[in-house]
Amino acid sequence: MPNALLSVHKINKCFGPTVALRDVDFTLLPGEVHGLVGENGSGKSTLTSIIAGIRKADSGEMFKNGAPYDPASVVEAQKNAVAMIVQEMGTAPEITVAENIFLGKENAFREKGLVSKKKLNKAARDALNKIGVTNINPGMPTFLLNLEERKLIELAKAMVDEPDVLIVDETTTALSHDGRELLFKVIEEMRKKNKGVIFISHDLEELMNVCTIITVLRDGDIIGTLTKDQFEEETIKTMMVGRELTGHYYRADYDCNVGEKIVLKAKNMTGAHLVEDVNFELHEGEILGFGGLSGGGIHELGRLLFGIDKVIFGSVELADGTVITDANTAVKNGLGYVSKNRDEEAIMLQASIRNNAVLPSLTKLVRRGMIAPKKEKDLAKEIIDELRVKCQSMEQKVCFLSGGNKQKVVFGKWIGNEANILILDCPTRGVDVGVKQAMYQLMYDLRCRGCSIILISEELPELIGMSDRLIILKNGKISGEFMRSPELSEQDVIHAMI
Ligand SMILES: Nc1ncnc2c1ncn2[C@@H]1O[C@H](COP(=O)(O)OP(=O)(O)OP(=O)(O)O)[C@@H](O)[C@H]1O
Ligand SMILES: [Mg+2]
Repeated sequence: MPNALLSVHKINKCFGPTVALRDVDFTLLPGEVHGLVGENGSGKSTLTSIIAGIRKADSGEMFKNGAPYDPASVVEAQKNAVAMIVQEMGTAPEITVAENIFLGKENAFREKGLVSKKKLNKAARDALNKIGVTNINPGMPTFLLNLEERKLIELAKAMVDEPDVLIVDETTTALSHDGRELLFKVIEEMRKKNKGVIFISHDLEELMNVCTIITVLRDGDIIGTLTKDQFEEETIKTMMVGRELTGHYYRADYDCNVGEKIVLKAKNMTGAHLVEDVNFELHEGEILGFGGLSGGGIHELGRLLFGIDKVIFGSVELADGTVITDANTAVKNGLGYVSKNRDEEAIMLQASIRNNAVLPSLTKLVRRGMIAPKKEKDLAKEIIDELRVKCQSMEQKVCFLSGGNKQKVVFGKWIGNEANILILDCPTRGVDVGVKQAMYQLMYDLRCRGCSIILISEELPELIGMSDRLIILKNGKISGEFMRSPELSEQDVIHAMI
């Protein structure tokens, strides 16, 4: 197309035997917010990372404003006004916020040979202000910031040079309501200025709200493109999976016949940060949901329960009186934890899928002092099959999996361990609708087998749809409790949140 901001033509990309992209044609017009959607492993990140100069295509052509475009690096893409916020962590933890924002551009801040911290910090503050972020200190080491703050730093970094093309890969799941609003504002401004945005999300509702056009990928093929008037959730889902998704998304029952037995008790649980004087009891075979606004303490609660952070007052106790003091004790006593910070806390990126998947179960796989290789492989295979992890083999390193498939491995390793208390912090973050459905089914099956689940989530429909009971935290304290009921609405719950 003559007036396209960016167009790619017949792009192919393989990773070994995996075809990630097959003859992909894609066009971004000025003023477009172009959604990319598809199941986990369908090729979204691969396509956008080629556009952003992170990887090279095996074959095909790209054009930026009609001229041939073939960036050899991220910096070269940025010089062509193409910027991307990556799906994984895109900031370096050990340097400051300002250094991250101007990484590779420090020369602009040299004074007599030395980088002027003052100038650098000032420029970073301006960059943050420009996207509406005022509460981050540019001189702070990045590792002190949470996931959301780091994503906002990436956004500031991407916007520094006023790109023509902004790519946002699965970022909103890391953002709170306010963070999303900031991002949407930036996107809206780009659209108004006739620039282009490529927006990747698994949240179809959000996608339909934010985008002006949506392209669906499946297994490396472009399936089709929908214009705004054609947006419809069912249509998109069917295009994504190539079949109609049937059955219930969430569980369908409303009889919360949970066990009498109390398997975990939080008594006056108080953490160093946010969680304050929280009391509750978790029953056998219960899905207990925890919701609340960002900053309400739900993620911190999960970390305290699993012993990652220290309980400074009160306690977390199991049925037999064991007190959870650290994560080791938790694992030994049948607790499992899926962290929201997948890449940092939940997975060994350089290890194989097999090694990751069986990790919590190792003691069960030991025979005569050694790990029984057949048992280990069987377990890994079971987990891969049950969660349909898209991979070349169980020996593939986890870092080479797509985002959603990594999440499946994290989830799978605790299922494999037959943990009897699972703490799941945003378990369906970044997974596609098909797998989400499978995870919900799995949670329900586990519950029916007597496993107890703490479901921490930022998605109200998920909490209402899956929980036997739902507790809301506000400013670190319990502000509401709801029993499962077909009448329970999002409105009822929101009241307790704000
Ligand atoms: N570096 C790599 N090495 C090997 N295989 C890879 C690599 N990167 C991606 N793949 C594979 O290419 C395919 C496409 O992956 P991609 O990351 O583009 O998916 P995606 O659509 O972004 O998925 P998700 O929604 O889970 O993020 C997947 O099968 C993935 O496992
Ligand atoms: Mg991806």
